[in-house]
Amino acid sequence: MQRRQLIKNAAFTMLSFSMARDLLGSPLPKVTSYPIHESALPIILRANENPHGPSPLARAAMQEAIAISNRYQWDMNGVLKERIGALTNHSSAHITLGAGSSELLGLVCLWASYQKGHVLASEPTFKLWMPAARKMGLATKLIPLTSTKHNDLQQILSSITTETRLVYLCNPNNPTGTAHDKQTLETFIEQACKSCVVLVDEAYTDYYDSPSVAHLINRYPNLVIAKTFSKVYGMAGARVGYLLAQPALIKSLNELQAWANAGPSAVSMRGALAAMDDVAFVTFCKAENHKAKEIFCNGLTDLKIPFIPSVTSFVYFDGAAYSKSVPNFLQSHQILGARSFEENRSWLRLSVGTTEEMKRVVEVLQAGR
Ligand SMILES: Cc1ncc(COP(=O)(O)O)c(C=O)c1O
Repeated sequence: MQRRQLIKNAAFTMLSFSMARDLLGSPLPKVTSYPIHESALPIILRANENPHGPSPLARAAMQEAIAISNRYQWDMNGVLKERIGALTNHSSAHITLGAGSSELLGLVCLWASYQKGHVLASEPTFKLWMPAARKMGLATKLIPLTSTKHNDLQQILSSITTETRLVYLCNPNNPTGTAHDKQTLETFIEQACKSCVVLVDEAYTDYYDSPSVAHLINRYPNLVIAKTFSKVYGMAGARVGYLLAQPALIKSLNELQAWANAGPSAVSMRGALAAMDDVAFVTFCKAENHKAKEIFCNGLTDLKIPFIPSVTSFVYFDGAAYSKSVPNFLQSHQILGARSFEENRSWLRLSVGTTEEMKRVVEVLQAGR
């Protein structure tokens, strides 16, 4: 089916869905389809965004919240922290909000840089915050991944010195899509927290129910967990993220901000609140992502392109096994996003889009083999 037709069908489903809800009130009908809201081309697979979101409930809530955007939203700020607290089994005092989690990763670096030293992280990993950390006086020491493209936890632990101010662990790791099991993670955190602040970035744990270590903040005063509404909740452009840590640490972090918790707008906060209510949408997104990822991974297998099994919404694969430059070839077919994260290496990351989009990616790669 043509993409444009698909979009029309999806939009119609969406319309019927919202009309039914308006006419009949709750409960919500069982949802089997959501609109693809972007123009058909190009296919954008570059930043691990949710191709289905934001959810219908979040969209409606955000539209409504435009009307209250003339007011500061202190109350809503508290309500959002309470809701996140209920979701994560913590109190509001354990939470600080940001305009996306990237902003908060920078805040933790600023706090850790009171004393000069270095931050330890994997190579490759999510590095957006590293230039700012360096400006704050924290050198970055990067530890190569294991041969299976996992964080090398043993090597990170043995690299901790008295100069280490922060260990950053992205689990599941971006760009490789690999995650550690609960026991391994807990042992690592116990060891690392003895020496320095440990920042665990859990941007993707909600997508595939990977083990979260958020409960451990009760045990370790220098453990910080970063989470975001940008991925499974489909709100990357709305900018809502949060940190979980013990209240004393949250307070210290807030003291570094002219105005704590003021990052997300009224519109974004209302969207985040509604997104947490839209359980059906999250379930749908996870299931679709599984299907779409399977289509892509089966295609890679067929093309004999090695890839790392991923527990996230992206896949890391070896472009050297293809006859052409994968990024250039896909781009020539208006598929954007295959990117390299390791210098002089052929491995590439591609985000997982809709099932239709991933079928198209495979079709293009097969045609050009
Ligand atoms: C591991 C990781 N952490 C954080 C972020 C940033 O998310 P946010 O949109 O909340 O700033 C991303 C975005 O891709 C990411 O991959």
